[in-house]
Order: sequence, then C-alpha cells, then structure tokens
Amino acid sequence: METDVITIDGPTSSGKNSVGFLLAQKIGYQYLDSGSFYRIGCVLLIRNNIRLENLEKVIEVFKNLQIKVKQNGQPKFLVNGEDITEHLHDPEVTRIVSAVSAIRQVREAIKLIQYKLVNSENTVMTGRDIGSEIFPKAEYKFYLTAGAEIRAKRRFKQLVQKDQDLKYGDVLKAMKDRDQKDTTREISPLRIPEDAIVIDNSDLTVEQTVKEMLKHIYA
Ligand code: DC
Repeated sequence: METDVITIDGPTSSGKNSVGFLLAQKIGYQYLDSGSFYRIGCVLLIRNNIRLENLEKVIEVFKNLQIKVKQNGQPKFLVNGEDITEHLHDPEVTRIVSAVSAIRQVREAIKLIQYKLVNSENTVMTGRDIGSEIFPKAEYKFYLTAGAEIRAKRRFKQLVQKDQDLKYGDVLKAMKDRDQKDTTREISPLRIPEDAIVIDNSDLTVEQTVKEMLKHIYA
C-alpha cells in the first residue's frame, strides 16, 4: 500500500471520533470512522424495509454499497449522490447496527470499502477492529480507553440534551452491556491490537490526547 494509515480503536465513548478527527486535521490526513460504514448500510436496510432475518438481502445491500466521502470539516457520506450523514445516528439505526455488524459477510463487504478508501489517501481510521484485523501492519496503532464511569458521563452529557428524562445510571448500565458485547462477540471482538500504543484518556482532553499521540508519531 502506497498510502499511510493510522488506526485508533477503543470502546464506546472513549473519544475516538473527536480525537481521530483532530489528529487527522493536524497531520493533513483524511479522517474516517468505520462505525459510519456499518451505519450507512443500516440506513439503507431501514429505508428498504429489509428485516435482519432476510440475511441474503442484508448482505446484498452491504455488497452493493457505493460510498463517497466528502472531506471538508467532519466527513460527509454520500450514497447515490444523497448526503445521508445526518441519519447515521437515528435511534432505529443505533438499535440494529450492533447485530448487523456481527454478520461475517457484512464485515467482509465493509473491509473492501475500507481498503479502497485508504488506498487513495493517507487516513486516520477509527473503530473496533481497525488495528487488530483490518490494518494490522499500520505503523501507528492506538488504543484509546477511559474508565466506564467517565465514558458514561461523556455519553450522558451528549444524550441528555435531547432527552431530559434520561438517567445517568441507565446510560452507565447500557455502556457496560455494550462493552461486554463488543469484547466477547465471536467475530472481530474489540481487543487491544498487537503493538498498539494504549492511551487512557480518563483525565485528558481531546487536545491533550492528540498531543500525546503526536509525541509518538514524531518521536
Ligand atoms: O462506533 P459506532 O457506535 O458508530 O459503531 C457502530 C457499530 O458498528 C457498533 O455496534 C460496533 C460496530 N463496529 C464494528 O463492529 N467494527 C468497527 N470497526 C466499527 C464499528
């Protein structure tokens, strides 16, 4: 591969996306969050009323995914010319994406998309299996983490703006459940990639985390 890729993996709300975006900006790379690819396919499943039991159709949607990325500020995703970025975090998408991303053939289809997009430009890519399975030979593989309570507080702060009745305890519980699912799933479980640089950013801001990464990159 001619182009360079820096991988950032980590659990939910570990700050991967804010950190990945800022790091990419600082070093002039494109930024891609691989969770978005799974979410894009889910938007199409919902729009086309394809149920998860219809495995053949689900796989077909992912195999035929044609994604264009517009990098000007936060990446925008175009599917058939339509910018669908604002739908990626719709609750119905979030509800199914975990199950969809556990389908082997879906992961294989997304892998090809990831290779193609990285082939054309230097990239910072975030996700769950980017350093461990997709680009294990990347020169810089980071694993970001933070305590579950700190991550739950971050998530709560984001979500409570939309739902005033939300309880912190529920967010913490959901976070722990999700950690458990992500780390124990049979296919591509979340794990620290070999040779990864582990950064616990419990007490670090986004800027401080990126500064820490740059120390390794420019060491
Ligand atoms: O980071 P996120 O919440 O946008 O990710 C959406 C889902 O996709 C999440 O359930 C885990 C899955 N995912 C994955 O399996 N592998 C990745 N590299 C990225 C995300």
